[in-house]
Amino acid sequence: MAACQLFSAPRPLRSLAFLLALAPVLVFSACENEVRKSDAELGLNPQQASGRRVFDSYCARCHRAYSSRDLQGPSLQGMFRKPYLSSGLPANDDRAGDIIRYGRSKMPGYGQVLDQQQLADLLAYLHTL
Ligand code: HEC
Repeated sequence: MAACQLFSAPRPLRSLAFLLALAPVLVFSACENEVRKSDAELGLNPQQASGRRVFDSYCARCHRAYSSRDLQGPSLQGMFRKPYLSSGLPANDDRAGDIIRYGRSKMPGYGQVLDQQQLADLLAYLHTL
């Protein structure tokens, strides 16, 4: 059997086979557990840092902040660096604020959940992405 022959192969070949077998696992776990940077590493000021807490509590389960991959909702990486959101709406505080307050299709609204300060902090944080 091929697998058995593999283990009677010379030692360097065996460890190579082992590494090859492990590689996808290593790559996969590295992608899934992106190392979380501290607020300081990200250069966040206190307002942006508290916006990050809001994001972690209410948004992170559906949106990625530091990857362009979509989750349940579109990635928010660089959302204010482009002229338009993926929905085609202009990428500005008014439009993004409305989406956050009132929701949009499968996204719930947070107007009743977040106060003015939390919303302002959240927007300040989203500008850092
Ligand atoms: C249950 C999942 C879910 C949660 C929680 C959620 N969203 Fe969303 N969000 C979505 C979906 C789905 C869309 C796409 C809506 C559409 O079809 O236009 C979206 C769209 C958006 C958009 C527009 C993006 C674009 O490119 O058009 C922004 C901005 C946004 N969400 C921010 C947030 C923020 C900030 C929070 C936390 C307060 C949050 N979302 C929480 C699911 C979610």
